[in-house]
Amino acid sequence: MDNFAKTKRVLSGIQPSGRLHLGNYLGAIRQYLQLQEQGHQCFYFIANYHAMTSLQDKAELEEATMHVAMAYLALGIDPERSVFFVQSDVPEVTELCWILNTVCPVSLMQKATSYKDKVARGLSANMGLFDYPVLQAADIVIYDSHLVPVGQDQKQHIEITRDVAGRFNQTYGREVLVLPEPYIVPEVAIVPGIDGQKMSKSYDNTIEIFATPKQTAKRCAQIVTDSTPLEAPKNPERCNVFALLKLLAGPTEIEEIAAKYRAGGYGYGHAKGRLAELINELFAPARQRYAELEKDPDNVRQIIAQGGKKARLVAQATMQRIRDAAGILVHH
Ligand code: ADP
Ligand code: TRP
Repeated sequence: MDNFAKTKRVLSGIQPSGRLHLGNYLGAIRQYLQLQEQGHQCFYFIANYHAMTSLQDKAELEEATMHVAMAYLALGIDPERSVFFVQSDVPEVTELCWILNTVCPVSLMQKATSYKDKVARGLSANMGLFDYPVLQAADIVIYDSHLVPVGQDQKQHIEITRDVAGRFNQTYGREVLVLPEPYIVPEVAIVPGIDGQKMSKSYDNTIEIFATPKQTAKRCAQIVTDSTPLEAPKNPERCNVFALLKLLAGPTEIEEIAAKYRAGGYGYGHAKGRLAELINELFAPARQRYAELEKDPDNVRQIIAQGGKKARLVAQATMQRIRDAAGILVHH
């Protein structure tokens, strides 16, 4: 019982808007798995309502939703221990989004950097995109979540969630909603991509988790490096390949590789080859499981349907509390 009292409600989501990459794994999914292993009450979901703000193609959205579902399962999200579901299987979250909209100042949304970034990149400035953080706040508070494992880019969204939830509590005069904390691991808060910028599907600089070993090696070979010749000494701290190696190799090997960089005679090609090897080793078991899951998509659909039912029960209870607090009468 004591142990249970110490566990936290953990929640996180990923948009089904492309193929998962090393940044998603190191920055978010690895923490999902650790928190699951530690016995917390974990809720992990596929944010398909969010994806609609930028991906408006039926077949692609369906395909990406199944990809993320199989990816989570293959990487080790255990539906027996974590509640694993698709966002739209809990439609109450859109009701809560509306309610939170009514306490969310427009000025707060205007400060949200992800909206500005997305519009600057050419995405259409639709209301869904603008309201994205409020839907995310609804995702988080509807499950009374304490802890939200994410990468650095999501920090502002968690701050907005706290702000909006706090305003709801203030407006209705009681502690109805739980204010969550972000869970960000500094070393992997911003995993660099093959061009040294933050790895992101929007920048076309990712290393995909579910690729073949050959594709992975090819992608690693494309990592941008300077033109220091093979024989010359190199500064590991200025190298995009080394930055990724640091996140994957053990400390002894990292020391060895750093020494080789500094000594010269060690080329970027060597480092890229080792990086590809490490990635392929890391994901070999998950890739195998993914191939198995792909053979039986109905089984995957069943697993997420069950998760959706569990999640919905929790959400419905919270919604009732929220409607009661705000004076929304229900007649049925
Ligand atoms: P993308 O930027 O590729 O669209 P998402 O926004 O779907 O990725 O991110 C899903 C999760 O993975 C979020 O928690 C996000 O913070 C994390 N994440 C994505 N890219 C990185 C990265 N390069 N470094 C650390 N975490 C990341
Ligand atoms: N905005 C998140 C991303 O792009 C996805 C997301 C939606 C999310 N709802 C969430 C993350 C709730 C954490 C909690 O990565």
